[in-house]
Amino acid sequence: RDHEQARKITEFIETFPLFKAINVDDQEELLLLFVPKAASPGDRIVRIREKGDAMYFVVSGTVEVDVNGAAVQLGAGSFFGEMALLTGDPRTADVTAVDYCNFLVLSRRDFRLFMSRHPAVRAAVQAMAEERLAMNRAA
Ligand code: CMP
Repeated sequence: RDHEQARKITEFIETFPLFKAINVDDQEELLLLFVPKAASPGDRIVRIREKGDAMYFVVSGTVEVDVNGAAVQLGAGSFFGEMALLTGDPRTADVTAVDYCNFLVLSRRDFRLFMSRHPAVRAAVQAMAEERLAMNRAA
């Protein structure tokens, strides 16, 4: 493993502590499956009621999630778009870039593959989705 790759992996795990538990042999996979994507202020990343084909991890910048007329902001280290992938239901909210953003994107197919091999990560993502659902129901 070269120095550059090791640095990228370290950075990835520091930004997303969710992946801390992944063993060293599997860490390189992170760089292969998670595809970089950039967005500009005002870009709509996820549209409510559309079919979900990917999950997004925020590397830098801020996005706004519009839930029941209220705005929730998510920054570096957070993720969104997990609900549609977990449930198969349409997107539950619009998600818009507030400023310049960098994401790592996990496709639906790679989400399945990755989460089936990393049940602890899956459980953490699932717990967050349930928390968000409960929040939205209460609002
Ligand atoms: P999904 O339904 O696929 O697409 C919209 C996303 O917005 C959703 O997944 C969550 O990732 C995110 N989201 C929905 N509700 C909330 C909330 N209350 N707080 C933060 N993020 C949310």
